[in-house]
Amino acid sequence: MVKFVTFLLLTIVRLAVAFPAYDSIAGLSEREINKYITRNGVAEIPNPPLPLPKGQDGLKLVNDPAHPFIAAGPNDIRGPCPALNTLASHGYLPRNGVARPDQIITAVMEGLNLGNDFAKFLCYQAFLMNGNPLTNLMSIGMKTPLTGQDPPKPALVGGLSQHGTFEGDTSMTRVDAFFGDQAVFNETLFQGFIDTATKFGFNGTYDVNAAAELRNQRLQNSIQTNPQLVFTSPRILSAYSEAVFPTIFFVDGRLNNRQLTIDAARHFFDLQMMPTGFFRQPAPVNFTIVDPLVSFLFNKHPFSPGVNHGKNNFVLQPQTPPLSDFCGIYEDIVLRVIPGQYPKPTGALKDAINKNLGFFFGAVSAEHNCTQVFPFGRD
Ligand code: HEM
Repeated sequence: MVKFVTFLLLTIVRLAVAFPAYDSIAGLSEREINKYITRNGVAEIPNPPLPLPKGQDGLKLVNDPAHPFIAAGPNDIRGPCPALNTLASHGYLPRNGVARPDQIITAVMEGLNLGNDFAKFLCYQAFLMNGNPLTNLMSIGMKTPLTGQDPPKPALVGGLSQHGTFEGDTSMTRVDAFFGDQAVFNETLFQGFIDTATKFGFNGTYDVNAAAELRNQRLQNSIQTNPQLVFTSPRILSAYSEAVFPTIFFVDGRLNNRQLTIDAARHFFDLQMMPTGFFRQPAPVNFTIVDPLVSFLFNKHPFSPGVNHGKNNFVLQPQTPPLSDFCGIYEDIVLRVIPGQYPKPTGALKDAINKNLGFFFGAVSAEHNCTQVFPFGRD
């Protein structure tokens, strides 16, 4: 590991000398990349972490002395996900905001008690769209040279803030990319979050009823105002899941009543900080808990996927799978989105992507009866 980090740092230093303009780093040809791989190899890809051992997977103080909050410094990267931002600020993730998939999975299991399958599903999906398969590193925010040498374009390696991948329109506390920085917390939208909780949530909390209203409101607002709105697979799934997550994971596990107070919401979304004395969920949370809540939101305000052709002109996209078609969304990610960035990977790059695709499918199939698909063949 030490060897790899040293190698990465040396590589970055070498690149900084060889390619003074940042842009040109991303534009190396496939031949140059292959030469690079031949010379340096690719990073070792560890297997996904196992579930937390029985007896250590329960209620636990997670804002503890071993994980003190330290606000992100000027060189620390933060992005669109309030959970990962917070985990980085408490040291569950590297505080600079650049991490390997296995570190992210361990962090969300340890820090918030995501179930192992669910953690792997989120993480490998994001990594395949936003991470660097050569160095096995991903930024939880903007693109950074800290993730090392990029594979050839059209691979983006854009980090979680990369619009149009995992990050997308109609977020609850971030503006659509059309209007500005899609990754940064927006106070005006957070006031809308509070208003919705006050109006629809039990005792002014953000609960599943508030979530259903806010999710619909954010979609309707983008339909009316964002001429470039895209609301299709895979974004539809993350948008609906992320509306539900705070009612589960940001609620103190001792109470665990799916009612998020505004104070706790302020801590996670804005301050990127766990509330004082915060306990994680009392048991690992997998699809069996999340799926019915997502369906509840959808059934309250059903929608069909689509894109805007100009403001208030939402054109349905019947070729993209609907929210209810989980396996269709999995196939869309694997057969359309990922080959969009890696049209014909070869050699070690292909092996690395295939390995991550295998991990991704492992998580997908744990609680859903989907069939594995192979964008680059089976070998
Ligand atoms: C491996 C795990 C995770 C990854 C890779 C991930 C990634 C992301 C990304 C890329 C976004 C931006 C989507 C967008 O709004 O455009 C996001 C948003 C969000 N994430 Fe995560 N996330 C993870 C785990 C979690 C967990 C455990 C929670 C628990 C509460 C969470 C809560 C949220 C919420 C609430 C948003 C929406 C923010 C908003 O709409 O304002 N995420 N996440």
